[in-house]
Amino acid sequence: MGKNNDSNVISRAYIDSLTIEQRLIDAVLPSPKARILGKAFATPIMNAAFSFLAASHPGYPAEMAKGFRQADALNMWGMSNDEEMSAIYATGADTIEIIKPFRQEDDIFHRIEFAIAHGAFGVGMDIDHAFGKSGDYDDVAGYIMEPKTVQQLTSYVKAAGNLPFVVKGVLSVSDACKCAEAGAKAIVVSHHHGIFDGAVAPLRILPAIREAVGDKIEIIVDCGFESGLDVFKGLALGANAVSVSRHILAKTYESGADGVEKEIRKMTGELVSVMGRCGFATVDSIDDSVIWK
Ligand SMILES: Cc1cc2nc3c(=O)[nH]c(=O)nc-3n(C[C@H](O)[C@H](O)[C@H](O)COP(=O)(O)O)c2cc1C
Repeated sequence: MGKNNDSNVISRAYIDSLTIEQRLIDAVLPSPKARILGKAFATPIMNAAFSFLAASHPGYPAEMAKGFRQADALNMWGMSNDEEMSAIYATGADTIEIIKPFRQEDDIFHRIEFAIAHGAFGVGMDIDHAFGKSGDYDDVAGYIMEPKTVQQLTSYVKAAGNLPFVVKGVLSVSDACKCAEAGAKAIVVSHHHGIFDGAVAPLRILPAIREAVGDKIEIIVDCGFESGLDVFKGLALGANAVSVSRHILAKTYESGADGVEKEIRKMTGELVSVMGRCGFATVDSIDDSVIWK
């Protein structure tokens, strides 16, 4: 695939293509507080799902989780083992564990049970890891993946019990509606940092997904968000929350939990400034009427 098909480049260009009008008269200093899956947080900015960090950077998964807790923000984590997840849960950060679409269903149910037993905030699955790039199901560290059916997703939702189930890697109205049908409480509109070349930009498809699912399901969006201005655009186009992934990872490497907290607070401040300039006093009230494409 040529450079022009790089989904990260396409997504970043789309974020930058969106411009915003200003509505200053009668504006007030806004609040960035956000309710995500039933809980109030200081910001709609949350972690994305990471994996395999502990191997190269021992202690960093927990450090990152601590940073999100310090910032009163929601944490998320990806493919992991019991030891790494235990260290993350021990930080007390509200954490959604995103489980891989393992072919072995036992592996999925083990992770769901582990999450429940350790007080997870939620569980979910990154369905976009089903296929590899060479004509077969994906193989991640020796684990074979597979696409899941609505019935299988429904069984995970049931196994999660009171924990909200989140489907990550949704990039179509069709999948979003199937997630709602399965009883998922939220979806992450994402292409998993370019797992799929030529993917539609998450922000481009987000309004169509929001229109199709209405308020039935909460929407998190990610891929390429680096500032409060970017986050504002995600919220304006229909997201309840925005995951910031590689940008925050860089801050973890630089200065651990404090670096994560500082960056989330900085981005939240930028978001408040944009909200104020656009006349939105609360996160819930932000809409797309100020966006010029
Ligand atoms: C090192 C690394 C590991 C990741 N591991 C996972 C994972 O295990 N599960 C998952 O759902 N997403 C995983 N992701 C994808 C991120 O959650 C996110 O969707 C993606 O990086 C896009 O956001 P960004 O552009 O802000 O980085 C990983 C990303 C990176 C950079």
